[in-house]
Amino acid sequence: MSEESDERQTVSGTGGSFVPPYPARPELEPSVLELIQLARQSLLSVWTQRSFTRPWLKLTVLRRLLFICNSPQTVQEAFVRKHAIYERKSPQMRHALEPLIGDGLFVSDGETWRRRRQIVAPIIHASRVPAFFPVMAETIAERRAAWSVRGDGASVDMLEEMAHLTAEIICRTIFGRELGRDYAAEVVESFTAYQRHIDQIDILSLLGLPDWIPRFRSRAIKRAVKRIDTVLEEIISSYESRAGGGETSVIGGLLDARDEDGRPLSRQAIRNEAAVIFMAGHETTANTLAWAWFLLSQAPAVRAKLHAEVDAVSPDGDPAFEDVSRLTYTRAVIEETLRLYPPVPILAREAGQDDRIAGVEIPKGSIVMVVPWLLHRNPTLWDRADHFEPERFLGAARGGQSKFGYVPFAIGPRICAGLSFGLTESILSLAMLARAFDPQLEPGTDIQPVSRLTLRPGERLPMRLRARGG
Ligand code: HEM
Repeated sequence: MSEESDERQTVSGTGGSFVPPYPARPELEPSVLELIQLARQSLLSVWTQRSFTRPWLKLTVLRRLLFICNSPQTVQEAFVRKHAIYERKSPQMRHALEPLIGDGLFVSDGETWRRRRQIVAPIIHASRVPAFFPVMAETIAERRAAWSVRGDGASVDMLEEMAHLTAEIICRTIFGRELGRDYAAEVVESFTAYQRHIDQIDILSLLGLPDWIPRFRSRAIKRAVKRIDTVLEEIISSYESRAGGGETSVIGGLLDARDEDGRPLSRQAIRNEAAVIFMAGHETTANTLAWAWFLLSQAPAVRAKLHAEVDAVSPDGDPAFEDVSRLTYTRAVIEETLRLYPPVPILAREAGQDDRIAGVEIPKGSIVMVVPWLLHRNPTLWDRADHFEPERFLGAARGGQSKFGYVPFAIGPRICAGLSFGLTESILSLAMLARAFDPQLEPGTDIQPVSRLTLRPGERLPMRLRARGG
């Protein structure tokens, strides 16, 4: 197994950068049983230091081969060149999310995925972001006003604050301003209830049992799904009766959409795709922002540069859409946050046929993964890989990076359909809130990354809202 030193990415180091927390790395490879045990607590605790530098990793969990593409070449091979073989999501992911999103884009494959992707991607594509921008800016301004009311030094759970902010933004984007506002709390609560009860580690699938064997679904999950169904049904009906009022919204786009044969989406498909966009677009962005606030609170020099930029780019008010492209340092802070704490730290697929990657036999049904958590901290790809240094995403340093070694939004045909939306939302939120506030970590707080479905800073992120320039 050769190390791939030719792929090393040069980055400009900055003095005074710091190493934010990551779980201890075991010296020895854990046994399969230890692995399952560790993985149930957090999917980040299972990797040894060596795991980060190996171009691929392979293990057999019970009867299934698990292969990890861990170099830019193997990532490109599986997720881009051989997309057709590896487009199917892992059974664990499908079983965790199917009750919630049915045949929605995020878990579908084959013809269903292709057709849905063609319909859904344009509705949230980069070219639509300017139309959604006013809703984003308005929602962020409301949150900032609410912080001002709470006063200088108020204690908040920043994870919860960011979860509410991004949920409000995505709800108003999907359902339009008015309905989004009315139903946001119910949508958030019903999805949260669902997520509390699912477990990504689906032992039946790891044991190699086929898909048709029914999975146990607790009454709590069924109740949560029923609640989501009811609220989505109610919103879609209200939307139809009000006819949208000419506002750009995802639901309007889904109702108007026609497939390549000119057919509209079924009611069930509209419900599923609305659920996909809410699920995919809410927690990922919330976690990114929460981590960004944490990192900034620990890095005074980075904070000073960010403040200088946000103050200079729109001195007389909030950034307009055109200003976002000038917030280059703020963008670098977000990109570095996504490198260190990728909200989706593991991308897992199922091999649709027998194959071979990097000379290794991959039997049909094997799980093939790309693990952003490993790639993004690989010291043969990144200098000072565990350090927080937004400068690596600026200027010439940025150009030296392999796009297959940095995959917070995945890569290939299944790349995040809301990439531009999520990046713009994150940059704008940070810029608008940092104009007025400089949140500090509550003294004595120990923050550790935890990963189940997404990677988050534990259950809470206690911070104090310090007003800037006041
Ligand atoms: C910082 C924010 C975000 C991150 C890091 C992120 C990351 C990802 C990743 C890694 C995937 C692929 C998952 C996999 O292959 O298993 C994905 C898929 C997806 N994301 Fe995002 N996402 C973000 C924001 C958003 C937003 C705001 C939306 C919607 C407005 C969105 C919509 C989607 C959709 C629809 C898919 C499924 C694409 C497909 O399977 O064809 N995401 N996202």
